[in-house]
Amino acid sequence: MRIFITGASGLVGSNCLRHFKEKGWNAIGTYFSYEAQDTVFYDTLQPDNENNYDVAAFKPEVIVHCGALTHVDYCEQNEAESYEKTVVSTQNMIALAAEMNARLVFISTDYIFDGESGPYEENAPVNPLSIYGKHKLEAEQLVLQASEDHLVLRITNVYGDEERGKNFVSRILDQIFNQQKLTLRLPIDQYATPINAYDIARCLYLLLNDQKSGVYHIAGTDYMNRVQLALNILKYFPDATYELIPLTTDKIGAPAARPLQGGLKNRKFMSEYPDFRFNTVDDYVSYKSILTEED
Ligand SMILES: NC(=O)c1ccc[n+]([C@@H]2O[C@H](COP(=O)([O-])OP(=O)(O)OC[C@H]3O[C@@H](n4cnc5c(N)ncnc54)[C@H](OP(=O)(O)O)[C@@H]3O)[C@@H](O)[C@H]2O)c1
Repeated sequence: MRIFITGASGLVGSNCLRHFKEKGWNAIGTYFSYEAQDTVFYDTLQPDNENNYDVAAFKPEVIVHCGALTHVDYCEQNEAESYEKTVVSTQNMIALAAEMNARLVFISTDYIFDGESGPYEENAPVNPLSIYGKHKLEAEQLVLQASEDHLVLRITNVYGDEERGKNFVSRILDQIFNQQKLTLRLPIDQYATPINAYDIARCLYLLLNDQKSGVYHIAGTDYMNRVQLALNILKYFPDATYELIPLTTDKIGAPAARPLQGGLKNRKFMSEYPDFRFNTVDDYVSYKSILTEED
């Protein structure tokens, strides 16, 4: 399988690149501003940029679009830029997929729901609260309208290995490993289903291999808020020093509204892949803590 992955310098894209290569697929992954290992330059906002990797020569059968602006509060305050980087970039990838006769995979979010009654199944009514959520919803609808063969994965609260270690779990682990005191001001009322990026890659491999299309919720079995998530990490490091300040979302006062009872149900995926085993936060952190002991 020839696969072109935009945003492979990021968390989800880099795990997809790694896993697809492990599986023997011919995968090319791109970066935009940070040249991660084994990536080529590509700007999804300028498909005609002369510095772009030559996608036409590669002739991908699948395009996995992970390139995006993922900072929810920044999107709220920069609506036009959010639209460009989420909706317009996806329109460009829809056009590229049509030109290449390739299937497109778009990565969406539980922020398309209002968080009144999560975790959510695929057919739950949508009602995004934020600009980020609205733009993700618009982009996924464009993808689904463009072809019955395209695939939308909805995910949330992603953690895992990535070169820059910028996800929530990695940042906490880095500070613990560097013996820094942590000050954690975290929402206690935002619930979601954390997932390891590597599991997203494993699921996507199966779905692509089986020519699946439409919407899939890819979520682990954990359901927790950020305070619980942090405590779940810290319990493996009894010597870590930290101050944990649990706050309600209204006290945090972030620019963008969040779904409180968010998260996703993986029932559809599990009914099709009953033998699949999702990793938990415990699996990931206990493994990381053992690796450190061995160092
Ligand atoms: N992380 C989560 O918890 C989460 C939750 C729900 C949905 N998602 C979705 O999953 C997808 C991947 O997210 P992620 O967590 O992997 O994000 P990430 O780590 O922030 O990576 C974003 C990627 O997009 C690339 N990019 C930015 N602008 C680009 C452009 N103009 N052209 C090409 N590439 C561009 C970045 O490249 P450079 O870094 O090289 O500039 C980076 O590789 C996104 O669609 C996101 O909305 C993520």
